[in-house]
Amino acid sequence: MTAPLLELRNLAGGYPPVAVFRNVNLTVAVTESVGLFGPNGQGKTTLLKTVAGTLDPWEGDVRVDGERLNAEGRMRSRTSRHLNYDLFRKRRIRARDVVRSGVIYVMQGNLLFPEMTVKEVIEIAPAASVGRSGIAAMRDMVDELFPRLGERWHSRIRYLSGGERQMVSIAVGLLALPRLLILDEPTLGLSPKLRVELSAAIAGIRTMGMALLIVDQNIEFLTGLIDRLYLFDHGTVDREIGSGRMPSRQEIMAMMFEARH
Ligand SMILES: Nc1ncnc2c1ncn2[C@@H]1O[C@H](COP(=O)(O)OP(=O)(O)O)[C@@H](O)[C@H]1O
Ligand SMILES: [Mg+2]
Repeated sequence: MTAPLLELRNLAGGYPPVAVFRNVNLTVAVTESVGLFGPNGQGKTTLLKTVAGTLDPWEGDVRVDGERLNAEGRMRSRTSRHLNYDLFRKRRIRARDVVRSGVIYVMQGNLLFPEMTVKEVIEIAPAASVGRSGIAAMRDMVDELFPRLGERWHSRIRYLSGGERQMVSIAVGLLALPRLLILDEPTLGLSPKLRVELSAAIAGIRTMGMALLIVDQNIEFLTGLIDRLYLFDHGTVDREIGSGRMPSRQEIMAMMFEARH
């Protein structure tokens, strides 16, 4: 059997000295689309930031294609000098290695560069990865997935709606040609109309063969886009809802309630 694209094994982390999540086990297979659903403030974003390499894991491993991404860190972190730093300095993940492995994290509520235009943001991103000759192809990809951005091409980011900004953030993530795209609350603050547009765009991304890991509070949006779902509560994965029939919103809410009581 081939290794999953992404595998979290017994992962724990947080903001020293506060532990936020623990004992997280989760996989995303190549081309699979996986959802993570749970109440606010429970540690989903903290978990994703750790996978992206912006926070150190305290325990456990992050593997891509079966290879451990965590490596021994060289620098001592000032924020954690009062802790038993050895516990997790061996587990440092470098954001650069995560990106190189093809895993791209699109942050929650990313503001991007407010004074730049959509065109500037979209054209700068691929210049670094594919060179100038690839820019036209990238622009076509963005146009096809997010027709609305074509209309806003010369607007500054600061004048876009939340939904349009979210689309630019996702487009920038896509321009790195990821194997796995991680989306954190993409529907946050979106109107129903924009949510439908975004859902269509994400469905389009799936057909391109990219794997997805999506965190969202809107369960209808989420279940329409995924193969498998993890329920996340109290800083850990409570339950996995496997492939087969995706339960309804009511059934999922009942499962969350059961797990809490
Ligand atoms: N930068 C930070 N420093 C310290 N604590 C934080 C920080 N960001 C979030 N937290 C805390 O970590 C917990 C989990 O937050 P978060 O991962 O954002 O949850 P979720 O994404 O599930 O809503 C919350 O209690 C939150 O207050
Ligand atoms: Mg969050």
